[in-house]
Amino acid sequence: MSGNQEPVVVVGAGYVGLVTTAGLLERGHTVWCVDTDVDRLALLEKGSTPVFEPDLAEVLAAHRSHVAYCTDQREALEESGARVLISAVGTPPLEDGSADLSMVRCVVDRMPREDEVALVMKSTVPPGTGREIAGLASFPYVSCPEFLREGTAMQDVRAPDRVIIGCDDDSWAVDAVRGLHPTLPCERVFTTDVTNAELIKHASNFHLALRISYANQIANLCEALGADANAVLHGVGLDTRIGPKFLKPGLGFGGSCFAKDARALLAVARQTSTALTLASEILDVNSDQAQRVVAKLVHRLGPLAGAKVALLGLTFKPHTDDLRSSPAFTLARLLRSEGAVVCAWDPSSRARKQALRHGPDHAEGLATWELAASLPDAIDDAKAVILVTDWPELTEVDWAASKRPIPGALVLDGRNALDPSAVSSAGLTYEGTGRHSAGLPVWRPPTEGTNTD
Ligand code: UGA
Repeated sequence: MSGNQEPVVVVGAGYVGLVTTAGLLERGHTVWCVDTDVDRLALLEKGSTPVFEPDLAEVLAAHRSHVAYCTDQREALEESGARVLISAVGTPPLEDGSADLSMVRCVVDRMPREDEVALVMKSTVPPGTGREIAGLASFPYVSCPEFLREGTAMQDVRAPDRVIIGCDDDSWAVDAVRGLHPTLPCERVFTTDVTNAELIKHASNFHLALRISYANQIANLCEALGADANAVLHGVGLDTRIGPKFLKPGLGFGGSCFAKDARALLAVARQTSTALTLASEILDVNSDQAQRVVAKLVHRLGPLAGAKVALLGLTFKPHTDDLRSSPAFTLARLLRSEGAVVCAWDPSSRARKQALRHGPDHAEGLATWELAASLPDAIDDAKAVILVTDWPELTEVDWAASKRPIPGALVLDGRNALDPSAVSSAGLTYEGTGRHSAGLPVWRPPTEGTNTD
């Protein structure tokens, strides 16, 4: 088992660990992938992956002879002779929002106490963590945050926008870490200190989340003024200083990163007595988006008791099976409390299966009867349909097929991804996000202004 490049140990066979492993395998490294979850490893041994990411299973299978899955970090280091160990274990949030570093600590405790093997931190740890670890360690420590986007992570690992390498001393490990990444123009590889590198990760997610909350507030203002957020934000993004990306309004950001990282940063800000009021604002704006949609629905349709409401999409974004912090579950909970009959569907069968599980990541989950057997079944006879996730399959619904919403039903486009004329020509009422919709009076939430109708 030897590739033509240095062997590497990756600890954590989750999303980041497996995508990192796949990237290293493609670049000719042999990888020892360590995880304490034996079921996870058994799945990987069989050629399946515990997380879905386009292309991931195929790459792992194609390089099967160059990857070993095992439970013991020390054994992996000994057998591989690797000089670099990458930590990709999770740092889930604790109750107060701070990051749970217990898994990172286990990785640190199992490092050899010598200069021979470097610890490369890809787990997202709060700024300040690395300096503390490095201060006590006898091994080289490098922070190398990941910027993978679910759904396109293999592209990101093959051709990253940037590589950030944080190290507090002049260690050999910096060059070793550079060598693990694809060759990039030198201005896109930034070497800095550990705390800066950790902050770059958090500040980047903070910035992206800020743009989304900004776009959502502008869209809400557009609704109140009868303006079109798509046009407004397009115009804003034409300024090259601003740019067009991450300005799509909708149901708010979901996923495991933006909210979690903002809370972790808030916890660090509290500990250091620094004001980070923007972070709490971003989170508040984000959680208001789903509430707005339900308030809008009640306003347009009257009491929802007994009304069938279809939720199209359960994942937090398309091309993933990830349900973590997806607005679908907040919507389901709010709709249930209004007495509506929720009927949901997602193109990912893995997502549909997981949606029935109760878990902290997606609140109380769905009940079996809330999951439709197919997309046509989900919308059939619905009084309202909400597009939650802009999967291609969900944006091309045949609204005039035999299984269709009731005449005049409200189709709320939570991602501005549907064709309004296709919806209206099927005798349904289209309403976008931050867009004035034909035939509908301007809507303002009761707490923010007076209704005009
Ligand atoms: C995000 C970052 O984009 C990655 O760079 C980062 O590595 C990752 O978090 C992480 O910290 O691990 P990801 O959570 O996969 O990646 O998803 P994004 O594509 O950033 O989307 C997050 C959420 O924002 C989704 O719910 C998406 O629908 C929403 N979004 C995105 C909008 O509502 N509007 C937009 O304009 C863009």
